[in-house]
Amino acid sequence: MKQAVRKAVFPVGGMGTRFLPATKSMPKEMLPVVDKPLIQYAVEEAQAAGIEEFIFVTGRGKTAIEDHFDHSVELQDLLATRGRTDQVDAIRAWMPPAGQVAYTRQQEPLGLGHAVWCARHLVGDEPFAVLLADDLILADTPCLKQMMDAYATSGGNMVAVMDVPREHTKRYGVLAVGRDDGRLAEVKGLVEKPEPAAAPSTLSVIGRYILQPAVFGHLDRQERGAGDEIQLTDALARMIGTAPFHGLRFEGERFDCGDKVGFLHANMAFALAREDLRGPVASFLRQLNRRL
Ligand code: G1P
Repeated sequence: MKQAVRKAVFPVGGMGTRFLPATKSMPKEMLPVVDKPLIQYAVEEAQAAGIEEFIFVTGRGKTAIEDHFDHSVELQDLLATRGRTDQVDAIRAWMPPAGQVAYTRQQEPLGLGHAVWCARHLVGDEPFAVLLADDLILADTPCLKQMMDAYATSGGNMVAVMDVPREHTKRYGVLAVGRDDGRLAEVKGLVEKPEPAAAPSTLSVIGRYILQPAVFGHLDRQERGAGDEIQLTDALARMIGTAPFHGLRFEGERFDCGDKVGFLHANMAFALAREDLRGPVASFLRQLNRRL
C-alpha cells in the first residue's frame, strides 16, 4: 500500500509582473478565467483528487487569497435575503473545511524550490502534491486525479508532463526519459530551463507534482540553480534512482496562464466548455473570424 497523499502545497508567492497593471494590488492567482480565480481551479482540482489539507505558501500582498477561502458573512447574508441559497450552497461546497487550510509566507522570492521548502513543517513526513495555479488544465478527469490513479501503482515521485516545441524548453523543467510506455515515462534525468540545443528531450514538466517528503532533505541544501533561484527541479533530479520517478502524459489541454496569450486562450476554451456560455461566445468568435 502506498501512503495516501492527503496534503497539497500551492506556491502563490510570485509577484505576477507579467500581468501588470492588473496585478499591482491583486495576486495573479486571483485573475479569473471566465468567473473563477485561477487559484480556485487549482484547489478544486486538489479536492477532486482527494486532498484534505491545503497549504498555501504566500507572500506580501496576497491576503485576497486568504479572504477568498474564508466565509464572507455579509455576502452570504445578502445572498440569503435575496433567496440565492443556491449560490450560498455553492460557496460552501468549495470552501476548504475549517482547520484544513494553512498559510505560511515565503519571506523572500528565492524560487519554487524555496517556496515548497517553506511548507516542510506543515507537510511533515508524508507524500504530498504541489499545484502551480498558473498551469490551468481543461480535462474530463482532473490532472491531479489522473496522477493519483497512476501513483497508486507506481508510488515514488511523479510529475505531469507534455511535449513542448523545442524552442520552448527554456521555460520548463525537461526530462531525460528512460522506459516509456507512451503514457508513463521513467525519469532518468531532469534539467531546469535548458537551451533548446542542450535539452535532453522536449518532454517538459507542467505544474503538478506528487512528491515524497525526502525532497525536503535535498531542498535543505538551499543550492541555487537556473536564474540563481533554488529550483524544485534540481532537488527532484537528486532523487532519481532513490525511488520510482515518473512523468505522466496527462489527458487534457493545458493553458499557461502566466502568459497573456495563454490566459486569453484559457478564457475562450473554458467559456466554450460551459453550456451556459458556449452559444454566445462561439457566435462572437465566428464574427471575429470574419474580421481576420
Ligand atoms: C516552474 C518549474 C518548471 C516547470 C514549470 C511549469 O517554472 O520550475 O520546472 O516546468 O514551472 O509551469 P516557472 O514557470 O515557475 O518558471
